[in-house]
Amino acid sequence: MRVKPRSMSVTSGKGGTGKTTITANLGVALGALDKKVTILDGDIAMANLNIVMGMTKCEINFFDVLLGNASVDQAMYTNYGIKVLPCGFRFEEVHETLSKIKRERVEEVVNEILGQTEILLIDAPAGMAETTLISIAAAREMLPVCNPTYPSLVDVYKTIRVANVLGSWTRGLIVNRTGKAADLLVDEVEQFMNRALGSMPVIADIPEDPKVQEAEREGVPVVVYDPECEASIAINELAKVITGETDLPYVPWEDREIGETAERLIRALTGRRV
Ligand SMILES: Nc1ncnc2c1ncn2[C@@H]1O[C@H](COP(=O)(O)OP(=O)(O)O)[C@@H](O)[C@H]1O
Ligand SMILES: [Mg+2]
Repeated sequence: MRVKPRSMSVTSGKGGTGKTTITANLGVALGALDKKVTILDGDIAMANLNIVMGMTKCEINFFDVLLGNASVDQAMYTNYGIKVLPCGFRFEEVHETLSKIKRERVEEVVNEILGQTEILLIDAPAGMAETTLISIAAAREMLPVCNPTYPSLVDVYKTIRVANVLGSWTRGLIVNRTGKAADLLVDEVEQFMNRALGSMPVIADIPEDPKVQEAEREGVPVVVYDPECEASIAINELAKVITGETDLPYVPWEDREIGETAERLIRALTGRRV
C-alpha cells in the first residue's frame, strides 16, 4: 500500500534562523532513512537552497514552473539521494513575476510533487508576505524553527498562530543554534511555548556548530560533510522523530515558575494572565 505523502513547510518569523540549512539537511537525513524525499525552495525571492545542496547550475527551476514555462520534472534534480526543486529568478523580471505567483498554482505544483514523493519539505520565506503564507498554506504540517532568544520566540509564535489559521498543523518546535552563554535554555523555550500556545513540544535541539558553516562553504550538506558532528547528530535524530522511529527527545516540561521577562512577554503576546 502506498503511504500517504506528507508535506511540511519549514518556517520562522525572521530570516537567518536556519530554515534552509534544516530543509536541506533534514531532507538528506530522511533520504538516508530510505524515505522518498523532495525538497522545494519556496523562498522565491531569496532562493538559496541550491547553494546549501551544492548545486550551482539549475537553469530550469521552480520559478519557471510557477510561470508555466517548465514542467515539474524538468525543474527537478537529484542530489545526495533526494529530489531537489530549486528556485531562482532573473533579476530583470523579479518584480513583474513575483506578483504573478498565485496560491492555486503553488498548490497544483505541490500536489504534483506529492504524487511522486513520500515527504515534501518546503523551505519557506521569512516574514508574513504573500509568498510566506502561500508556502505555509501549501503544506499540511509546519516545522517551525527558532533560535533560543526572546525575539526569535516571539516571531515564531506569530508564525505558528498564523499557520493554525491557515489550517497547517504543528507537531512541535525546532530550536536551532543552541548553547551559547547568553541563550535561553531549551527547557525555557519549551516552557514559554507551552504557556503561550497550550502545548508545543521542542522536537529538536540543534546546537551551534562551526561545522554547519564549514559544510556550507564546501557546498555539501553537513549531515554528509561530517555525520558525527553535533549538528548532524541532532538533525538525524529529528529525522527519526519525524518518521516516528524515535519518540520526542524531551520529556514534557514540569509546571514550575517561569521567569519574569517570559511572563511579561507571554502576557503581551496573548493578552492572557499567566
Ligand atoms: N546550528 C548551526 N550552527 C552554526 N551555524 C548555523 C547553524 N544553523 C544555521 N547556521 C548558519 O546560519 C546562517 C543562516 O542559516 P540559513 O539556514 O540560511 O537560515 P534561513 O534560511 O532561516 O535564513 C547560515 O550561514 C548557516 O550556515
Ligand atoms: Mg533561507
